[in-house]
Amino acid sequence: MNSYPKIGLFLKFAPLFLALICKTIWAADILQGNVTDSRVINSPSEEPGSWLTYGQNFKEQRFSELTQINTDTIARLGLAWTAQIGDYNMRMQGTPLVVDGVMYVSNGWSVIYALDATTGEEIWKYDPEVDRSYIRLACCGPAHNRGVAVYEGKVFVGTFDGRLIAVNAETGEEVWDVDTWIPEGLGRFNITGAPRAAAGKVYIGQGSGESGHRRGYVTAYDADTGEVSWRFFLVPGDPSQPFEHPEMELAAQTWGGEWWKYGGGGTAWNSLVYDEEFNSLYIGVGNGAPWPREIRSPGGGDDLFLSAIVSVDVETGRMNWYYQTTPGDNWDYSSAMDMALGEIEFGGEMRKVVLQAPKNGFFYVIDREDGELLRALPYTEGIDWATHVDMETGRPVENPDVVYESEPQWIMPANSGAHNWEPQSWDNELGLMYFYYHDIANFYSLDEGFVETGEYEIRERGLSLGWGEGEYRRRLIEEAGPRPESQAYIGAFDPITGGYKWRHELESDYNGGVVATRGGLLFHPEGTGEFSARDTDDGEILWRYNAPGTFRSTSVMTYQVGGDQYVATMMNGNRAIDLGGTVLAFKLDGNLDLPISDIVQATVPELPDGDFGVDQISEGDDIYHAQCASCHGGIGIPNEVAIVAPDLRLMTLSTHDEMSDIVIGGSRADRGMPEFRDAITSDQLESIRAFVVEQARRLKEFQEQNQEAVESAANEEALNRA
Ligand code: HEC
Repeated sequence: MNSYPKIGLFLKFAPLFLALICKTIWAADILQGNVTDSRVINSPSEEPGSWLTYGQNFKEQRFSELTQINTDTIARLGLAWTAQIGDYNMRMQGTPLVVDGVMYVSNGWSVIYALDATTGEEIWKYDPEVDRSYIRLACCGPAHNRGVAVYEGKVFVGTFDGRLIAVNAETGEEVWDVDTWIPEGLGRFNITGAPRAAAGKVYIGQGSGESGHRRGYVTAYDADTGEVSWRFFLVPGDPSQPFEHPEMELAAQTWGGEWWKYGGGGTAWNSLVYDEEFNSLYIGVGNGAPWPREIRSPGGGDDLFLSAIVSVDVETGRMNWYYQTTPGDNWDYSSAMDMALGEIEFGGEMRKVVLQAPKNGFFYVIDREDGELLRALPYTEGIDWATHVDMETGRPVENPDVVYESEPQWIMPANSGAHNWEPQSWDNELGLMYFYYHDIANFYSLDEGFVETGEYEIRERGLSLGWGEGEYRRRLIEEAGPRPESQAYIGAFDPITGGYKWRHELESDYNGGVVATRGGLLFHPEGTGEFSARDTDDGEILWRYNAPGTFRSTSVMTYQVGGDQYVATMMNGNRAIDLGGTVLAFKLDGNLDLPISDIVQATVPELPDGDFGVDQISEGDDIYHAQCASCHGGIGIPNEVAIVAPDLRLMTLSTHDEMSDIVIGGSRADRGMPEFRDAITSDQLESIRAFVVEQARRLKEFQEQNQEAVESAANEEALNRA
């Protein structure tokens, strides 16, 4: 109650007066982070040097009109600045945004940094103090976060422990903080995707589709207050309870069994694209949980809205249309991959389309207005599960010879997808999509317990198949034979003809996203630690930078401030050299070196002698990556981020001796190192050790080479001084 209405009135308007006064005094000063709908819509022509949203602007084409760095000048590209914004227990996946000379970027633990985009100097930092125990819910290794949204003076981040937070873009002070979890008997979850802000609202889904009891939904919050505007569920709940909205009634008819007991999956963990032309939000929906439909939804049908693209009206939160890329998902084929909005000539007419290359191996061109499927051609030869998409029915035709329920087997694409979330770049003039993908097979089989008893038990982690490979699965794999060869590619794909203008093989199976520019360049951070620029005409490499960390699953963007064009990417940290996750920004004539002296500081201890066979090392490599890498890091030179656990290359001789006790005996279980008694044999552990020793020897060699580089740099400096 306010008994002094006049004072109340004054107080109510005080901020307005203050703002007016400030505005008059500092008329030249700009409001920080003042991204509005019209500004984003006009940005491609009016401010091509900005990067205002996750996908650059609402269309999320990630194609830059900047030309200062081009095929003629590329040789002059060099490091301009770096900013270490993380340590090595996280993965750097965010896309930096650049608004009015300020870079807004997040690290793996959802900490937001505002940096001077020309120097990397920190302006402010906001730490949401994420509950680190949420690492247990992460499907795919360490903490990660794909970035922030900037809108009307605020910066928004979805946190690894499931909150959505708004902070003041000028000061970094918190404005509001909401828990996006709903207490409905559903498990807690991580958020790893970037929020999107448009039409006065902020939109966010959640991740952890593989952990515990999961039922996907997207929530729209008022950007100003954090109040819920609407919530759209992606999987129906218990049908004995009232449906939250009419679309759930429709969806429930496509499910079987008691799916709600498992949750069903369908999280929107990455792609949410706003379309101002139809005032709609396209939601990219994730896979089913558990993966096998026989367990999840026995006797069911398509299991809506798993693995679908759903168009929702942003005013009402009601559905406009949906298109399901993998009806009745059975393989973890998410449709949560990035989407670009474009215009395409089709049948003599210009059509407004949404473009997506989801995990399942087909590239979809869908009319944005009504969801009509225009094209669905394979972007890879590595598709075992289906023969083609039937354009009459608009549905994939599953391959009757590839049925893992009756015959456990290697199937492509793997659960990691032929193309995952790594950003793509769409040239709307040429009608070409630049992206990286890989052909990798996963061994698919039903859960052992389910096969034996017909019952399925939900686990907090590893809800689906493919994890915790026990004796049962090992035997199946042995019977099935070796894993098919894997190979990654980068290319320029025409989704209408289904052909590649060019396509090249990549060295590493896991790489980062891309950005193409009007300067004829395609920038690509690779899993090997090389950051490459290719010619968009033929894909030939024109420039390369060797980084001391890796770029697995990182993204890249470009911007222009103060007359200089920059290209920025994020590098995963490298525990072995005590280097954390770092933003790298390049410009023409940039001549900064990453301080190499740091690189030689971490020393590899004395290593065990012994020769290991190539096959043994390669077996160890496979098991290590299946069982150990999610905590210990995907070793490589330079090291792929080592996460919540020590880098095994740095083990002492006595730890080598203890390894069997630690891994099989579970002697450090109370310190977070799980026991692998049922999962790994002594022979297999020896193979892992062979792999680790081999990797440690390579690291040692790498460090010795760098030691020489440091010494010769020091000599040169001494000469210069003399
Ligand atoms: C869930 C996370 C996790 C997984 C998966 C995991 N580890 Fe660990 N591991 C840890 C943690 C945490 C430690 C550190 C424990 C401590 O404080 O001693 C550790 C420590 C170790 C150590 C001791 C290292 C040293 O230098 O002291 C060895 C050896 C090891 N793990 C081997 C393995 C192997 C081999 C695998 C795969 C078969 C594996 N771990 C999988 C979490 C994990």
